[in-house]
Amino acid sequence: MRFAAIADIHGNAAALEAVLADIAAEGIETGDIVNLGDCLSGPLEAGRTADILVPLQLVTVRGNHDRYLIEHAAGDMHEWEADAFGQLTARHLDWLRTLPFDAVFRDVAYLCHARPQDDGTYWLDQVTPEGRVVLRDQSEIEAWAEGITQPLILCGHTHLPRAVRLSDGRLIVNPGSVGCPAYDDDLPVYHKVEAGSPLASYAILQKTEAGWSVSFRLVPYDHMAQSRLAERNGRPSWTAGLATGRLS
Ligand SMILES: [Fe+2]
Repeated sequence: MRFAAIADIHGNAAALEAVLADIAAEGIETGDIVNLGDCLSGPLEAGRTADILVPLQLVTVRGNHDRYLIEHAAGDMHEWEADAFGQLTARHLDWLRTLPFDAVFRDVAYLCHARPQDDGTYWLDQVTPEGRVVLRDQSEIEAWAEGITQPLILCGHTHLPRAVRLSDGRLIVNPGSVGCPAYDDDLPVYHKVEAGSPLASYAILQKTEAGWSVSFRLVPYDHMAQSRLAERNGRPSWTAGLATGRLS
């Protein structure tokens, strides 16, 4: 069994197209792609991204930013949602409303956006009081995986590709972000998340005799065109992040 996991597209339609082409070139069909949420929010092409995603009918879980788009009033949105919302149709928003918090893919993988029961907390990483993003303590990672029976667990949210193996052999994989390689956040303290490359990130999971293997794929696309689009839309952190995978 072999399938692909994508996450954190954030309205970057060009990156999504490049990743979908790479997945197809790897011989993986659309029905064998799962999407871990945060699909549309950001200053890029939310509407075009939705036009690509909705008909694909991927197994998709809802990200915190997907939730913000359907929970908050139009005039009361964080800037990532405010930028996206104006491009979205009623059909796009109805699709977001159908997305579940979590899902199980073919009895082998548990899917959620961030961690079980909470779409806003980093699972595999943690922020130190000084604002550094580091590998989370193993005991906390394991505690949040309690009760999940699938051998493979997939999450997104941090935009950083990472795999953590649990003591019982289960594997948690974050495929990284398709469309937003760097951002900053004020909570729990100010911190930056920087992938260090502008390439579009996703993962291929394959069952082997020895267990699940993970291939992280970093796909080039015209990221500078998206950086320029963010600049025209007045979002300097996106302009820098899309250009380099760093914020400065
Ligand atoms: Fe995200």
